[in-house]
Amino acid sequence: MIRSVIRGIGSYLPDEVITNADLAKVVDTSDDWIRERTGITQRYRAAPGQMTSDLATEAARRAIDNAGFDPDTIDLIVLSTSTPDYTFPATATTVQANLGITGGAAFDVQAVCTGFVYALAIADNFIKAGTHSRVLVIGAETYSRILDWNDRNTCVLFGDGAGAVVLEAEQGDGTIADRGILATRLRSDGRHKSRLYVDGGPSSTQTVGHLRMEGNQVFKLAVGMVPQVLHEILDDNNVPMSDIDWFVPHQANKRIIDATEQKLGIGPEKVVLTVDLHANTSSASIPLALDVAVKDGRIKPGHLVLLEAMGGGFTWGAALVRW
Ligand code: ACO
Repeated sequence: MIRSVIRGIGSYLPDEVITNADLAKVVDTSDDWIRERTGITQRYRAAPGQMTSDLATEAARRAIDNAGFDPDTIDLIVLSTSTPDYTFPATATTVQANLGITGGAAFDVQAVCTGFVYALAIADNFIKAGTHSRVLVIGAETYSRILDWNDRNTCVLFGDGAGAVVLEAEQGDGTIADRGILATRLRSDGRHKSRLYVDGGPSSTQTVGHLRMEGNQVFKLAVGMVPQVLHEILDDNNVPMSDIDWFVPHQANKRIIDATEQKLGIGPEKVVLTVDLHANTSSASIPLALDVAVKDGRIKPGHLVLLEAMGGGFTWGAALVRW
């Protein structure tokens, strides 16, 4: 059976750091409130003129270098973002051009904070279908551009950044011992749209719009839906929780991660946490967190890694990967 093995990983964060204290000068909030309710201490913000494609290109370059591949051998780019450079063309094609790649295909995926899990699942299916063999999967966001900087309920929660992985087709035995993406689960339920959305777009207002969220409702739904899909992916693959080496959740809020961790019965020592330093970078958060844990030596080849995310739509999902 064909498996999609992760050969390289890279990430990029813009230079400017915004601390909670910086935000307290802009809206009626405090470092204590943000830390206690979210676990966030700082976030990064893209420089004026620095676009999602710029962040994505840098993360992609680092991932391709890490894999040791010639960029021209990449035959598919799947880029997840809900903050594209333009309404069209896809940000993925700009990244393709920036990388000097002229063959293959490139497109964007829009599943808000679950985007990286969606993009990974799509890439895995292209590889398994046998049509593509080296796929770049990117999560890149500039949420600073869609935040209402007068709304303390939302502007304290998000940050900019990008992360990328390079997948390569490899023949596996079809067992859970194989390296690569072992399983993915994608879910959505459009009925919850009003809880988390951006109030603009080309076909509605002809403006970009701002992020709007009923935070406490999203919180409750997240804590209910995410553990369900995680139990499902593990049960369907006969993997006991004790076999998981690392749990890498979407980094939205430390309290959501803590609650999920408790519902799953996984120890905090196995959870990769970067929300404190990156805040919620939407679809970039998982590859950013993975890159931190790979580079600091926690995630090693052969480790079993469980990914999960949830976001606007609602969308949610999980992936089981042997590094
Ligand atoms: N500073 C100070 N006070 C604040 C702030 C702030 N930044 N933001 C809200 N408050 C106030 C509210 O106005 C409210 O005041 P009130 O009681 O006088 O009305 C009080 O704090 C409590 O507000 P809640 O919204 O009930 O606070 P909660 O404990 O739920 O925390 C939070 C809010 C952090 C947003 C939390 O609900 C959360 O993290 N929700 C989930 C968000 C999320 O995970 N999104 C993921 C998907 S993101 C995506 O897909 C793009």
